[in-house]
Amino acid sequence: MKNSTPENKSDAYEERANWPPHTYRDYPDIKPETYQEFMEFLNTENTSGRLMELQPWVSVCDSRCAFCYFPTTASAKVKIEPYLELLKKELEMYAKTKYVKTSVFDEIVLGGGTPSVLSAEQIIDLVDFCKARFNTNDEYFIKVSGSSKTLALPKIDKLAEYGVFQVDMGAQTFDDKLRKMLCLPDSAEEVEKAIRHARKLGLCVCVDLMYNLPGQTMESWVSSLKKAIELDVEIDAYSLHVDPGTPLEKMIETGVSPPQGDTEFEKQMYLAAYKLLTEAGYKAVGHDRYSRVEWHMRENCLNGWPWGGILTTGAGCFMGYLQRFSYSNMENIFEYMEAVKAGKLPIQRLSKSDDDDMMRREMSRLYLRLPVSKKEFMEKFGKLPEDVFSKQLQNLKEKGLIEIDDKEVRITKEGEVWKANIAWEFASESQTQNK
Ligand SMILES: C[S@@+](CC[C@H](N)C(=O)[O-])C[C@H]1O[C@@H](n2cnc3c(N)ncnc32)[C@H](O)[C@@H]1O
Ligand code: SF4
Repeated sequence: MKNSTPENKSDAYEERANWPPHTYRDYPDIKPETYQEFMEFLNTENTSGRLMELQPWVSVCDSRCAFCYFPTTASAKVKIEPYLELLKKELEMYAKTKYVKTSVFDEIVLGGGTPSVLSAEQIIDLVDFCKARFNTNDEYFIKVSGSSKTLALPKIDKLAEYGVFQVDMGAQTFDDKLRKMLCLPDSAEEVEKAIRHARKLGLCVCVDLMYNLPGQTMESWVSSLKKAIELDVEIDAYSLHVDPGTPLEKMIETGVSPPQGDTEFEKQMYLAAYKLLTEAGYKAVGHDRYSRVEWHMRENCLNGWPWGGILTTGAGCFMGYLQRFSYSNMENIFEYMEAVKAGKLPIQRLSKSDDDDMMRREMSRLYLRLPVSKKEFMEKFGKLPEDVFSKQLQNLKEKGLIEIDDKEVRITKEGEVWKANIAWEFASESQTQNK
C-alpha cells in the first residue's frame, strides 16, 4: 500500500512559514471611518445563510508560559467579576444589532487566555448569558478552553453535567523536563489525570501540542504524540514560534535554554506527526488539527472560510471575521474595560476587504486544507482563480504543491508541509512586506 505521508523530499521553500497572511498582524489600526462603516454593516441583515461561531475571550492566566504570544493578563492583576460584567456588556452591544439578530450560531467557544480560571458557576453563567441573547441552531456546541492547572476534577464534572461538548487544553508536551523549562506549572501526570477524567465523562478533549521546542528530541515529540493518541484526544499540533519579547526569546539569547532545531528538523517533526497520527486514524483538518471526531471535519465556521463568521469579544481577542470585516480588540485589559464602560466597541484593529483582498482570502482556503471551488469563486467574483492568479497557480502546480481540475484547486500531499508558504503566494505586496 502506498504510504500516505506527505513527501519529505520537496524543498520547495527555504523555510516553513509559521502563519498565513490575513491574520490580525495585517490589520490596520481602527479609524473613525472604518468604525462607522462597521457599525453600518452591523445594522444590515445577515443574508449569508451560514452558521457562525461566538467566541467570548477571558484573556487572563494564572501564570505565564515562557513561549506564549497571546495578550493575556495575570489573574492576580485583574478582578474577574468586573471584567465579566463588561464582557457581557460588549456581547450585549453586538446582540442588539440587526446583523447578529439575523445570525445563527452553532458554536459558543470560551477562548483566551484561560477561561478555566473562572469557577464552573461563572463559566455556566457566561454561557447562559450567550444562549439567552444569541440565536443558536438545534445542534450547537459549547467549548471551553483551559489549562489542567485550573481545571480541577469537580469543575470538569460540573461542565460535563451542564452540557459542555469539548474542553481545549494547552498540554504542549508530556515531557516534564521540557515543561519545567517552558514554565508550565503542572506536571505531565496532572495533565493526564485531568484529560482522563474529562474523557471518562464523555467530553471531547482537544490538546495543543508543540513541536520544535528548544531541546526537544524527536523521541520526546513522538512520545507526546503517542500519549495523546493513547488518551484518545483531538490534537492541535503547533510548531513553536519564538516571539520577540517572550521570556523564551531571552532564555535562548542568554543560553539558559538551547536554540530551536533548524527548518529541516522542524519539517521532519511535522512529517513524523502526520504519519503517526494518520496511521492512528486521525485526519488532518483545518490549520493544525488532527481529528477523529466527525463533527470537527464539517465545522461550519471552518468550511465556510472566508465567508462564515466568528464574532469574538473580550480583551485581546483577534479572530473576528464578519463577511468583509476582520477585527481584533484592545489587548490591554484595563483599556478594554474603559472602552466598553464608555459604550464603545473595544476594537483596536479593523480591516475591510475589497474584492481583491477577498479573492486572496478565498485562496487561503488551501492553508486550511480546503479546496477552492471554481464555481463558488465565479459566483462571488465573476472570474476563475486562474484568471486572477495564473502565475502563482502555474508555479505551484509545477512544484507539485497543488492540483487543479475543472472543479477546484486543492493542495497535494507534497503541498501539506508548505501550506502556509502556499497561502503567502497569494498575498498582496503590502502584506508580504509586513510579514
Ligand atoms: C491561548 S492558548 C489556549 C490554551 C490555554 N491557555 C492553555 O495554555 O492551556 C493556545 C495555544 O497556542 C499555542 N501557542 C502559544 N504561544 C505559541 C507560540 N509562541 N508558538 C506556537 N504556538 C503557541 C499553545 O499551544 C497554546 O496552548
Ligand atoms: S499558553 Fe495558555 S496558559 Fe500559557 S500563557 Fe498562553 S494563554 Fe496563558
